[in-house]
Amino acid sequence: MKILAIESSCDETAAAVVENGRVVLSNVISSQVEEHKIYGGVVPEIASRRHAENISGVVEKALSDAACTYDDIDAIAVTYAPGLIGALLVGVNFAKGLAFATGKPLIPVHHLRSHIAANYITDTSLKPPFLALVVSGGHSHIINVKSYTDFEIIGRTRDDAAGECLDKAARSMGIPYPGGANLDKIAKNGNDTAYKFPYPKVEGAPLDFSFSGLKTSVINIIHNSQQKGETINIEDLGASYIRQVVKCLTDNTMKAAEITGQNKIVVAGGVSANSVLRRELETLSKARKLELYMPQLSLCGDNAAMVGAQAYYEYNAGHIAKENLNAIASLSIDKIYI
Ligand code: KG4
Ligand code: ZN
Repeated sequence: MKILAIESSCDETAAAVVENGRVVLSNVISSQVEEHKIYGGVVPEIASRRHAENISGVVEKALSDAACTYDDIDAIAVTYAPGLIGALLVGVNFAKGLAFATGKPLIPVHHLRSHIAANYITDTSLKPPFLALVVSGGHSHIINVKSYTDFEIIGRTRDDAAGECLDKAARSMGIPYPGGANLDKIAKNGNDTAYKFPYPKVEGAPLDFSFSGLKTSVINIIHNSQQKGETINIEDLGASYIRQVVKCLTDNTMKAAEITGQNKIVVAGGVSANSVLRRELETLSKARKLELYMPQLSLCGDNAAMVGAQAYYEYNAGHIAKENLNAIASLSIDKIYI
């Protein structure tokens, strides 16, 4: 089954053709990073406008790269939630139009489910059940993935997401957008024990995260140094900060594996590209004899190949959109709204 998938939830306009949820025939991404960089973050209105301008060209290229016409495509898939509402609407409306014009079924895909599905492409033998650490710009979850379409959140952030916390810290260190990825590069040569950070815990919820205190403490360190006229070593500060964020993520993931007895760990979302997170998870999983799955670097960020992968399993579960499918800005991964 060949699925043409579309993704426009944030600042990448993307389309892909994916076969049977596992084989990527094409994967086209048009990134708006350079334009949003000027403003230090994603400007939703600009994102929507660029999606509207780019989407038809991106979809055409995805078809031609896959050497397909609409006749070869069995279904259209689209990210419908969660994300920037104006950005999502561009993809959803385009996909609805395509599905109507071609008479193909339309498959609605949840953005975080698709991030997890990036792993089905990287390792074609991976099958649920497993535990997933989902870490993106807007979410930080530990999820019990019971089947391809059955999810139970067992740990979540009480405030900021890990990606947001890295982005905001990078911004206060004067590192340009996209902060998380740039901070990862800059911190590579830093001393990760040079600065001390608190270790946030959520009382009574051992698998939950809290990142807002860490974000505040990095801002305090910067302000204190500025007031005293001291210079800050950004490499060291970045490395120490990443170390602490990663420690929170890996500690809770290992605790979740212990509590649930699950020995398969999957990582997903933009932050899964972080070099320290990947290294630490590899070390910890090896020591505990856990099977670890991480998406290839090219599939960590937003893309449509992962949407096509998840769409195959949504289709098999009978999740087909009606003609009135809408975009939803906020929707929990365990919910479906079609
Ligand atoms: O999944 P994603 O591309 O978009 C959302 O769905 O939110 O995730 C974006 C997040 C951003 O916060 C970005 O800073 C972070 O992923 N990110 C990274 C790295 N690459 C992207 N964070 C840490 N290290 C990286 N190498
Ligand atoms: Zn994402």
